[in-house]
Amino acid sequence: MTTVKWTSDLSVGDTRIDDDHKGLFQLVDDLSNANISHDYINLILDRLKRYTIEHFSREEEHMRKVGFPGLKAHLKEHENFNEWLETIRSTYARFPQSPFILGDSVNEYLQGWLRHHILTEDMKYRDYILSQKQDS
Ligand SMILES: [Fe+2]
Repeated sequence: MTTVKWTSDLSVGDTRIDDDHKGLFQLVDDLSNANISHDYINLILDRLKRYTIEHFSREEEHMRKVGFPGLKAHLKEHENFNEWLETIRSTYARFPQSPFILGDSVNEYLQGWLRHHILTEDMKYRDYILSQKQDS
């Protein structure tokens, strides 16, 4: 399966958050590994959960700090993602015999979500921060 890579057009103007996003792309890439196994998927899903918790809180702090007006809607996006991940984790716990199917569907969703979320949602706080800088 082909994966999406982090590219500079996805930069939100903050190195730490960009690095988080690069790490997320790396996790998606790991999931597309051809020799995927039950333990491996479990490992990646666990890693993904820890990673997103840390990343989302960093991003939310970043938005709070600058008084980003779209914070509430953005929090909802993160919450939806967390719910999706929990669904995946519990589904996988119940049907571990189908690692390939789950691996592919997780991968496809993640690729789409990541790019879409960064390009449409994360860019909103980047643009807000840029506009604040121009005003001052
Ligand atoms: Fe975000």
